[in-house]
Amino acid sequence: MTESTASDGVITGPVGLALAVAGEREGIHGHEHWRRVGENGIDLAHAEGVSCHVALLFAILHDCRRENDGQDPGHGPRAAELAASLGHEALGITPDELRTLTYAMYHHDRGQVTDDPLVGACWDADRLDLIRVGTRPDRALLSTKSARDPVRIALCTDHRAEPPTWDRLVQRLPDPRRLTADELMRRLDANPRFTRAQGNPDEVTITFISRRR
Ligand SMILES: [Fe+2]
Ligand SMILES: [Fe+2]
Repeated sequence: MTESTASDGVITGPVGLALAVAGEREGIHGHEHWRRVGENGIDLAHAEGVSCHVALLFAILHDCRRENDGQDPGHGPRAAELAASLGHEALGITPDELRTLTYAMYHHDRGQVTDDPLVGACWDADRLDLIRVGTRPDRALLSTKSARDPVRIALCTDHRAEPPTWDRLVQRLPDPRRLTADELMRRLDANPRFTRAQGNPDEVTITFISRRR
């Protein structure tokens, strides 16, 4: 498999290819959202023991063929078609992983849940960023145990800091656990205090404690 590398803002390999074909996009379905989905996806894929590389490709491509920021039910299928046309070798993944990636993209906006940990990591990474449009993710619509963790929800929905750069996300691929001091601080900053309602583990109240003034 061809590795993706990043230095001085130049990303090569499959991730560089995906970014090139995805193109520029701003707004609620643009690069900032994709980078947050990438960060969430790498975290979740790592926690679920599935491919962080596929999760990052999903983040880059899943919304890149939107025709508008509203209802656009064809954007998942168009993204899936794009990935299929690139092929598994160019994307640095196996044929099975390409099938999983295209399935995840095709169906990503249909409100489904799944038992497949890689599809689940991709869908959950996207849904955990719903907070950007003012919607707290519904735990019943999260597929992976890792994403349903209240601490995870609090971390992923803390938007006080910029999401990581694409370079940084590529650099995390070989060792997804490794966080820089800044990243660690950002996550500690979002350290939530949460309480579970008695008798109902699904009802969670989260209070953010910020050390910033
Ligand atoms: Fe989408
Ligand atoms: Fe999205």
